[in-house]
Amino acid sequence: MAKVRVPQLETERLILRRWEKKDAPQLYEYAKNPNVGPPAGWKPHESVRESRMIIDQLFRINATWAVVLKESGRIVGSISLEPDKFRTNIRTRELGYSLAEDCWGRGLMTEAARTVIRYAFEEMKLETLMIRTSSSNRRSQRVIEKCGFVYEGTLRRASRLFDGTVRDTRVYSMLREEYEERRAAELAEAAAAVSEATAAAVAKATAEAAE
Ligand SMILES: CC(C)(COP(=O)(O)OP(=O)(O)OC[C@H]1O[C@@H](n2cnc3c(N)ncnc32)[C@H](O)[C@@H]1OP(=O)(O)O)[C@@H](O)C(=O)NCCC(=O)NCCS
Repeated sequence: MAKVRVPQLETERLILRRWEKKDAPQLYEYAKNPNVGPPAGWKPHESVRESRMIIDQLFRINATWAVVLKESGRIVGSISLEPDKFRTNIRTRELGYSLAEDCWGRGLMTEAARTVIRYAFEEMKLETLMIRTSSSNRRSQRVIEKCGFVYEGTLRRASRLFDGTVRDTRVYSMLREEYEERRAAELAEAAAAVSEATAAAVAKATAEAAE
């Protein structure tokens, strides 16, 4: 099987990089937590060996990044661009992610997702990007909204999980033109902030020179 490209990406607080087999103990550390996998539809990992197999057979086949905290070098999560099973003959992927529970609520996954979304549209040249989450996963829904995805609808009784429970799935997507519009607005906002700061610095220097 062809090796997928997983270039290193960087955000303010994170490095996103390819998973290595030697990362298995760090994956196991957060993936064994029963609060992490089940909301995303997967069974908690039962051993380091299982985590190593997931890295080898899943993460290194799909475009999956390890989410690494810059401040400590610790792996705290995973983010991926997997095949989109719902669309045909379209350049599309499905975004997925999970994060160690002690890191929730600091905006980390939104930060990682925005960078991967930019990579998906600007480097992979996707036409659409989709994401699904269960109707009960309010945290993930919030991340999805903050990233600018558009809600498409709910697939009722969409999947039966490892533990036999059946879930409804909320489906969202982002079209290329929606991404471009959002990106242009972000860049305009950043440029306005820079020119405001420059004007303030010039005014301060002028006032100091006049004293
Ligand atoms: C979903 C997940 C990745 C979110 O990561 P995170 O870094 O905590 O996300 P962020 O901090 O960027 O945003 C979380 C948002 O959810 C909100 N939130 C937290 N608990 C909530 C709740 N019970 N109900 C509604 N919103 C909630 C937070 O307030 C925050 O929104 P805000 O920025 O407007 O305040 C993480 O919780 C996780 O790994 N969960 C388990 C795996 C999973 O569900 N994966 C997704 C599968 S689709």
